[in-house]
Amino acid sequence: MTALPDKTAGDELLIKMVENEEEKQKAFLVRAIVYMHEQNCPYQEEFDLNDYSATHIVGLLGEEPVLAARIRYLPDTAKFERVAIRTKYRGRGYGHQLFRFMIDFSRQKGYDRLYLHAQSRLQQFYEGYDFHTVGSPFVFSDHEYVEMLSERTEPEPPAQATSPTAYIGSDPMRLNRPEGRLDQPGPLDDSLARLEESTDSERATAHVQPSPFKANLVASLPGDIGHS
Ligand SMILES: CC(C)(COP(=O)(O)OP(=O)(O)OC[C@H]1O[C@@H](n2cnc3c(N)ncnc32)[C@H](O)[C@@H]1OP(=O)(O)O)[C@@H](O)C(=O)NCCC(=O)NCCS
Repeated sequence: MTALPDKTAGDELLIKMVENEEEKQKAFLVRAIVYMHEQNCPYQEEFDLNDYSATHIVGLLGEEPVLAARIRYLPDTAKFERVAIRTKYRGRGYGHQLFRFMIDFSRQKGYDRLYLHAQSRLQQFYEGYDFHTVGSPFVFSDHEYVEMLSERTEPEPPAQATSPTAYIGSDPMRLNRPEGRLDQPGPLDDSLARLEESTDSERATAHVQPSPFKANLVASLPGDIGHS
């Protein structure tokens, strides 16, 4: 059979958090291809209840799904799981890009401890990102794994603090924003612009305090949307 032309040639890889059903389907398809088909993992072992408590990651070349992963959150620790790249897209450095994305994403959420179960052959790859082994090798789904942990020991300077909890008590509106986009105005920031345009009687109907409160509120908005 003649090989079909690669429609993704020239496209740049986009790695992102899954934000809609189509992206989720694409991420799950990659996992099905890589783990169920390539690594013979049974469906029930690949797709478990933890899919409902995880952040899903997908990588796209144009419309084509090429990679996937998920991040789960333990107390104080982000756990990287289901890292998968379709065979024809391997060896291009996408594994490094995916891993960098997952580390940055977790740090932005405030996680200094990162943890994963590595297939033993990939231990060296993860060591390159300051992961070290803990415990003893163990086996599941017919593969041998090692536990690996990365702990950021040096605290970030306060000016660069990225933990969302750093905003408690000083910038609560940031904590209303969508995950992964705390530095960009979200839908509830927009709701404040609506408040600014409303009349006193409209605010009274909406059980919002009159002008002085509004003025304080708008002035307290982060610089990217606040008014002087
Ligand atoms: C692991 C995986 C994501 C790496 O993808 P990739 O396209 O090779 O990633 P990159 O091209 O960015 O390479 C990443 C590094 O991993 C190394 N690597 C990739 N496959 C490897 C293998 N089978 N054995 C040892 N090292 C491997 C590469 O040598 C490279 O290291 P280098 O840059 O120092 O040379 C991909 O092979 C995959 O999806 N495998 C199947 C699923 C899987 O096993 N996931 C990991 C579970 S812990």
